[in-house]
Amino acid sequence: MSGSSLQFAVKPGGCLKGTLRVPGDKSISHRSIMFGSLAEGTTEITGFLEGEDCLATLNAFRACGVEIEGPNNGRIIIHGVGMRGLIPPSKAIDLGNSGTSMRLLSGLFSGQSFDVELTGDASLSTRPMKRVTEPLALMNAEVVTTQAGTPPLNIKGGKKLNSISYDMPMASAQVKSCLLLAGLYAEGQTCVTEPAPTRDHTERMLRGFGYPVTTEGNKICLTGGFSLKATTIDVPADISSATFFIVGAAIAEGSDITLDHVGINPTRVGVINILRAMGAKIEILNEREIGGEPVADIHVVASPLHGIKIPEDQVPLAIDEFPAIFVAAACAKGETVLTGAEELRVKESDRIQVMADGLQILGIDAKPTPDGIVIQGGVLGAGTLDSHGDHRIAMSFAMAALRAQGEIHIRDCANVNTSFPGFVDLAKSAGLKIGQEG
Ligand code: S3P
Repeated sequence: MSGSSLQFAVKPGGCLKGTLRVPGDKSISHRSIMFGSLAEGTTEITGFLEGEDCLATLNAFRACGVEIEGPNNGRIIIHGVGMRGLIPPSKAIDLGNSGTSMRLLSGLFSGQSFDVELTGDASLSTRPMKRVTEPLALMNAEVVTTQAGTPPLNIKGGKKLNSISYDMPMASAQVKSCLLLAGLYAEGQTCVTEPAPTRDHTERMLRGFGYPVTTEGNKICLTGGFSLKATTIDVPADISSATFFIVGAAIAEGSDITLDHVGINPTRVGVINILRAMGAKIEILNEREIGGEPVADIHVVASPLHGIKIPEDQVPLAIDEFPAIFVAAACAKGETVLTGAEELRVKESDRIQVMADGLQILGIDAKPTPDGIVIQGGVLGAGTLDSHGDHRIAMSFAMAALRAQGEIHIRDCANVNTSFPGFVDLAKSAGLKIGQEG
């Protein structure tokens, strides 16, 4: 079966029940491989996300000579090679669908002594890379893209990087992290100022590996030339993956679900803030801190939702959760308005257009705008729609079936494995009437 022919078929109705643990956090898993590889000593990781995106990062470091054992049930042992220990890969590194791998590695490889070519799949090959290559050029890095500013990236090694102080034009943790990774290899202090707070896993994990990083307001700085010391990392469950179940439980009458050991870093909890403002009943239980990241269990029961104007300051804090939030909005009473979210148009798909198209097929009044969407809550019908190979679109529409009047068929779902291997089985065990066909 070719990847694009994998379809989800989801029967209408039902509710979500039980206690579940969704797979590990994607952002933290990527970074654990990167820093474990560059550290001195042996790093042990548990809870690693064995999805295709994070495995692409893992394979990139194996290709550069790092000995990595596993993953075995989310456990990985990395024999770090130190900041200067990577060796040239024998061929181009294919990063599949993973924007995080490509953007972060463009910074990291800019500081190496050898050339590297980074390639990706059809979706990644259309995604904007000038946002990283332009500031990297200011650091004296040399990264060549296509004329359109898209992958493949050809990164020249042996460049002496200088530090910069960069005001990011958009709120992007990938751009911030790229520049901090290049900054590890630059002479002097590199600072990045973000227009709004974005996920800070890079800063937290660098500190966990003993690398000094300062954060003052929205300005993050580090000085090149220090080293990373191996550590242990317990990756919490991914709040972005938990989101599908949080939304499913919120919209489906009779639901009562607990999601265990979920990362609730304050830069990631926009979805909880937004859904609560819409009337969702979400409890945060057993808050604790694991390896520098806040973790909790999340309990959700169904409740009536109402439309809201989504506060723009929540957008970067919920950036990956909007496809699922749009499904919640379709099930809510009244109008939901999103603005200030043009970044959604350059994710794994154009998430504003693709979600609007799918919701319209299901009979919902969803009007895309240049930087957001306006959704009138209504009755979800039935139909066949296309995820455009976007994992989060596929899983969001699967949950929509809980409130639909007929069956929902979703095309092109193989990429669910990029972030959520085992989604179908876990969702089925919780009560979603989901099957696969192809
Ligand atoms: C990520 C940052 C976000 C997010 C992506 C993961 C990261 O991208 O959408 O899924 O791990 O740094 P942007 O920083 O480009 O918004």
